[in-house]
Amino acid sequence: ARLVVLVSGSGTNLQALLDAIAADPDGYGARIVAVGADRDGIVGLERAEKAGLPTFVCRVKDHPTRDAWDLALAEATAAYDPDLVVSAGFMKIVGKHFLARFGGKVVNTHPALLPSFPGAHGVRDALAYGAKVTGCTVHFVDDGVDTGPIIAQGVVEVRADDTEDALHERIKEVERRLLVDVVGRLARDGYRIEGRKVLLP
Ligand code: GRF
Repeated sequence: ARLVVLVSGSGTNLQALLDAIAADPDGYGARIVAVGADRDGIVGLERAEKAGLPTFVCRVKDHPTRDAWDLALAEATAAYDPDLVVSAGFMKIVGKHFLARFGGKVVNTHPALLPSFPGAHGVRDALAYGAKVTGCTVHFVDDGVDTGPIIAQGVVEVRADDTEDALHERIKEVERRLLVDVVGRLARDGYRIEGRKVLLP
């Protein structure tokens, strides 16, 4: 399967996918054909360039409207003809053009146990709320914010002395393993989405 991975930051989830594929290029069942970002100058793009992958940057401010940006992102992604798009720390909400092209094929990873704590500050919100456990969710993207059908979740204990960064790092350790496992299974074995249920063979 052909993967396009979308990033906005350090790209450690992207790196986990790169490492898993490099460790077993034939067995993993997928390869990354391009990496896209919504901004320049991020480590995620450096990781892609080090791996010799094509990259593209689609910045909202380069477009007259958010809708135009969404269409540009869809076209830039479609140029690589992906079977799956992996949003790994991509911090923009994709819109109707993107979902028209790739709906049902976009996998997102979120650092909280959805439906709890959706949005851009899931780790901070769980900590502030006093949750005793939190974690990460890998799900398909639908037209909401972190609301699509859940594929897999991992639980992480919250510690009394946790800072947002410490907790996020522990979540990311679980998140990277979960994402690598899920993407490989979707790519190798296929899947069906029925309502809110994701059916894996
Ligand atoms: C991940 O925890 C992701 O779920 C969240 O931001 C983090 C991105 O990490 N949206 P990285 O860029 O993959 O290192």
